[in-house]
Parts: sequence; C-alpha cells; structure tokens
Amino acid sequence: MIILKSKFETKKIISAFKNQQHSIGFIPTMGALHKGHISLINKAKSECSIVIASIFVNPTQFNNLNDLKNYPRTFEADCIMLEKAGCNVIFAPEIAEMYSEKELELKNLKIEDKAWTEGKLVDFGTLEIVMEGAHRPGHFNGVAQIVSKLFRIIEPDKTYFGQKDFQQLAIIRSMVEQLSMPIEIIDCPILREPNGLAMSSRNERLTTEQRKTAALISKTLFQVKNFYTSKSIAELKKFAEQQLNAEPQFKLEYFEIADVNTLKPASEYKANQKLIACVALQLGEIRLIDNILL
Ligand code: PAJ
Repeated sequence: MIILKSKFETKKIISAFKNQQHSIGFIPTMGALHKGHISLINKAKSECSIVIASIFVNPTQFNNLNDLKNYPRTFEADCIMLEKAGCNVIFAPEIAEMYSEKELELKNLKIEDKAWTEGKLVDFGTLEIVMEGAHRPGHFNGVAQIVSKLFRIIEPDKTYFGQKDFQQLAIIRSMVEQLSMPIEIIDCPILREPNGLAMSSRNERLTTEQRKTAALISKTLFQVKNFYTSKSIAELKKFAEQQLNAEPQFKLEYFEIADVNTLKPASEYKANQKLIACVALQLGEIRLIDNILL
C-alpha cells in the first residue's frame, strides 16, 4: 500500500496505473475509519483493480471550530485497517495541499465568506436547503468543494459513498452530473452496530451509556418502516418525533419523510414515489444522523 501526501505524485502514480489499463475505485473519507468505511473499500475491491482512499479532515465542511478540533484523528490505525482491506493507495494531504492561502483566508470558517459559495460552479437547488442543508448552512458547499478537488486529482472510474449520508450522496450525484464528470457513483448500504446504531466516526466520542441510548434512533426508524403505508405520513412523523423527544438526552433537530430523489418533504403517499425517513439529533455534544429507505 502506498501512502501519498502530494497531489502531483498521486496524479502521477494513478496515471501509471491507468496506462496499465487498471480501473480506479475511489473512496473519500475523513479518517477515524470503522467497518462502515471498510465496507466501501470491500465493494470497490470487488469492482476495480486499484482502490484508492483519501483521508482528509476537510475544514470547509465543518460548521464550528470545536467540531473540527474534536474530530477524531486516528491516522495510524486507519492505515492498518486500509492495508488489511487491500487498499492500494492512500492519499492523505495536508490542508495546504488542497486549499490555497486565499481560499483559507476567505473561509475563516464563516460560511458567508466561503470562496466556494461566492463563485459557485453548481446549483444544488432544494437539495442543499432541506434537512442537513437547513441545519448545517454551507456544509454541502464545503463537501462539494473538497470532493470536486479530489475527483480532479484522482479522476476515478468509480467512487463509493455510504447511504448513511444520504443527502451528501444526492449532492455528489448532482455535482458530478452538472460538471459532466465521467465518474460512476456507487452507493453502499449503512453498516450498523449490533444494537442498530449506524456506525460513525463520531460514535467514538459517545460514552457506553450514550451508545445504548442512541440505539433508540435506529429503533424508531425501523418502527417507522414497519408502520409504513399502514399509517399516514403525518402519523408516522408524529410517532417518531414523540418517541425521540421523549428521550431526555436527545435534542431532536429534525425527523423528516422525504422523496428519495428531490429530498423534499412528503406529506402524502403518491404512486411510484420512493420515500426515505431521515433524522438528525444531538446527544450530549455529539450530532448523530441516520436514515432508512421506506
Ligand atoms: P466520512 O464521514 O469519513 O465518510 C466517508 C464515507 O463513508 C461516506 O461516503 C460515508 O457515507 C461512508 N460511511 C460512513 N459511515 C458509514 C456506515 N455506517 N455505513 C456505510 N457507509 C458509511 O462523508 C465524509 O467523510 C466526508 O463528507 C467526505 C465525503 C470525505 C468529504 O470530506
């Protein structure tokens, strides 16, 4: 496994693989890897001859400095996991490798000042103003900014994203389409802990007790799926909101049932419309998200 920090070197090595007719599968990550990330590597291994993962805690997608500072960083353990999974290349750049001084100066982590927001190349429409977009203003601009930079360096044939971040997946699909990037996006199912809690790097910061409490999130989603079509959408929402609000440790941000394509909230069942239930809440210091396809 090769570990690279330079974008030029990464580009050179990937070009060499491409010249040898290899297919390139790419998995962008922010590190602090768990089995959910590794499931993406495994999927890529089964479809591509070279698998590259990036590890980069992207400052422009964080809404507050504390979250960025406290984001778990476990680079050595990540490398061991990736090597075991058969990953061929890790691209782990420093911030200066990905952002110019000017971009960082402009950013200053204040959303209004973001260069990407000013000179936006793509329009995400409602995708970036519902759910996560509404609660984390500028977050998806930061995600699109870094992922487009990574795609330009790596130019993968296929890229792998988890359904855990369902709205992110929709944003990346929209960006790739609008920028005509010849990259196939593969979505991968959510991996869960035995108690149902969706795996997440942020779970590392939960206490054992909080992890138990957090299981109510997926339990609620599974119940909503069970009740699906036997109750109205308004009833499903009410049930989920009441159950989650009844847990004193939760601060519910939103529970929404939305169209899988537009992510606009749905108010009634329509023929041929696929829906997804999405939730975000705060448990202590930690913000957790989860979803289920209905
Ligand atoms: P990160 O949170 O590290 O996630 C990297 C990828 O792993 C994402 O596609 C995410 O959806 C997927 N993933 C996370 N938890 C998962 C789980 N339990 N099951 C399946 N897949 C899971 O998402 C990001 O990083 C960043 O926003 C990034 C795209 C790297 C841009 O900075």
